[in-house]
Amino acid sequence: MTDLTETLARDLEAARQRTLRLTDHDEPELLRQHTPLLSPLVWDLAHIGQQEDLWLLRRGDARREGLLPADVEALYDAFTHPRAVRSRLPLLPPVEARSFCGEVRGRVLDRLGRLGRDDDGDPFDFAMVVSHEQQHDETMLQALDLRSGPPLLGAGTPLPPGRSGVAGTSVLVPGGEFVLGVDAADEPFSLDNERPAHVVDVPSFRIGRVPVTNAEYAGFVADGGYGDRRWWSERGWAHRVEAGLERPQSWSADGTRTRTRFGVVETVPGDEPVQHVTYFEAEAYAAWAGATGAAPAGARLPTEVEWEKAAVWDPATRRRRRFPWGSAEPSSALANLGGDALRPAPVGAYPAGASAYGVEQLMGDVWEWTSSDFTPWPGFRPMLYADYSAPFFGGDYKVLRGGSWAVGASILRPGFRNWDHPIRRQVFSGFRLAWSVDGTAA
Ligand SMILES: [Fe+2]
Repeated sequence: MTDLTETLARDLEAARQRTLRLTDHDEPELLRQHTPLLSPLVWDLAHIGQQEDLWLLRRGDARREGLLPADVEALYDAFTHPRAVRSRLPLLPPVEARSFCGEVRGRVLDRLGRLGRDDDGDPFDFAMVVSHEQQHDETMLQALDLRSGPPLLGAGTPLPPGRSGVAGTSVLVPGGEFVLGVDAADEPFSLDNERPAHVVDVPSFRIGRVPVTNAEYAGFVADGGYGDRRWWSERGWAHRVEAGLERPQSWSADGTRTRTRFGVVETVPGDEPVQHVTYFEAEAYAAWAGATGAAPAGARLPTEVEWEKAAVWDPATRRRRRFPWGSAEPSSALANLGGDALRPAPVGAYPAGASAYGVEQLMGDVWEWTSSDFTPWPGFRPMLYADYSAPFFGGDYKVLRGGSWAVGASILRPGFRNWDHPIRRQVFSGFRLAWSVDGTAA
């Protein structure tokens, strides 16, 4: 095996171990649907195998016969069956779903072993399948987070302590050009919407050193922010009223100090990034904070381009860094990733993970809402899974950046682009603030 195929075999195995751990529950548990927004776990399980069969054993040609009968395979088509109805489908029972996934994986590993010899396949396609499985592992965690009943997953692994004095602070990113996006030559496993690399000019801006915390957000709630239309966009206000939003998902009404997370009731930790807010709530918080003095005037959400520059650009070398901190692979000393913690780390927990500009916790902890719509970079070309990005460009989506604590480290890059409807908050979503700066002086 080459280094690349060894890496892919290791990443496939790590994703599968994670999937099996997350679905190691009895049949009634796997068949439960915790919210219309998410699938029962047994659907995710077989869908992971079905997609692996399609992309790696049939090279994306759905007309070729797969390992499942066509009528069963059709149950796992995400485009024809909305999440809300999946628990009513005649799904494969968990034992059969696991056995199907195992059968597919055996054949996939055979193929991987032949890659570059009698198999002319593209290693990227295997990386794409790893990414798909890890992304479903994250959505399974979103479902388990919303599940009622005693905890299934324990308390989560310990995280490093935070630092005082970093919440509410910001850093300057001087104006100028930088390289946005990546090319396959540098990042062979990057997905289609991250490519190609191209130069853009970004005016000076300031950006939060760390994401907005629960304690900061609680100030907005306590000040009546959810009842004050001034802070909300028209659409945001309409959604707030219709959905009855009063505070972030799973905060309780008694002064916002308790909430349920993965079945655990606890005091909301003031120094953790706020999590489970919609884009509209993030936008309203920024308007409130900038107008009331809770943050400097003019507070807003960053654009995704600003976010990426703050994350990867090294003004000293005038080059992109592979990760915010440099070229080292992500580790538990640099970022909170992989899903075992079950929560974001307190702000200031990863000083060694800071970007060249001194921005912290860009990767891991919470997905960060940006003000950007989801559109292709100039020169976009779809990958083998052509419907991964393209059908969503220009839709009612906002881009989220940086990855949450639940993202598998092997699939995340600072150029990774996630997107969702601005009303969604089952995602592990938070945000940081940004400010425009006149002129380009540092
Ligand atoms: Fe999928």
